[in-house]
Amino acid sequence: MKRTAIIAGILGLGLLAASWTNSESQAPSSDAKIALPSAKLVFNENGEAALPRGYRTWVHTYTAWEPITESLLDEKTTQTPEFHNVYVEPNAYRNYMLTGKWPEGTLIVKEFSFTSTDKANCDGPPAYLCNAWFGKVIFQHGYTGIALMLKDTKRYPAEAGGWAYFSYGHQQPPYKASSAPHDRARCAQCHIDRAGPALDYVLSTNQPGFSRQGDDAANNLAAAFPD
Ligand code: HEC
Repeated sequence: MKRTAIIAGILGLGLLAASWTNSESQAPSSDAKIALPSAKLVFNENGEAALPRGYRTWVHTYTAWEPITESLLDEKTTQTPEFHNVYVEPNAYRNYMLTGKWPEGTLIVKEFSFTSTDKANCDGPPAYLCNAWFGKVIFQHGYTGIALMLKDTKRYPAEAGGWAYFSYGHQQPPYKASSAPHDRARCAQCHIDRAGPALDYVLSTNQPGFSRQGDDAANNLAAAFPD
């Protein structure tokens, strides 16, 4: 009996220690114990960043759909409405869910795709609802570009939040192999004006995959990671 009590006591202490470590790592500040982003941009000698590989395996946080408009990728009118699919580097996502802060090295990709606009089969504009055997549907129809944000306060100390903005053309893959960071007027200014420092310049934190309200952070982490 005594032995069981001691083991239970030790187990209890162990559990206490585990929950202490856990609650410590969930403190609302950046915590060195949470792994920092492991995917990194590779820069050439001209300061251009190569298109990262594997970004579609990162955490998908939301999809948006925008009618025909001026594209921020090339400042020309889009050929069709475009979807935006947003992916976040996994460790950056884990940090954000646990602390509400974007760690150094965060990478966020927004990939664009055309919408099906087949005149024989789809209504539109503005929304191209297409006929399918199961009903009406709006389909993606080929990828058409990448916008990317990197948080690197050492490389870009003068930029708001240390964020640099890149894009890799407005065309179907293959995309451009590398991109120089865009000047402030082209990308950052809108994120500065519309999101600002309170949101660390990230505009879409109201979208489901970014939500930390109530149980959302725990549910999002459980959906993103098996452990
Ligand atoms: C006129 C305003 C405006 C400009 C200019 C702009 N963005 Fe954004 N950006 C937005 C909005 C609004 C969202 C969120 C909605 C969405 O998905 O489009 C967003 C979202 C993003 C995201 C997803 C993370 C986030 O902040 O929500 C990335 C990455 C991004 N933009 C990169 C870029 C890059 C790279 C450029 C320049 C080539 C750029 N943006 C220029 C308004 C802008």
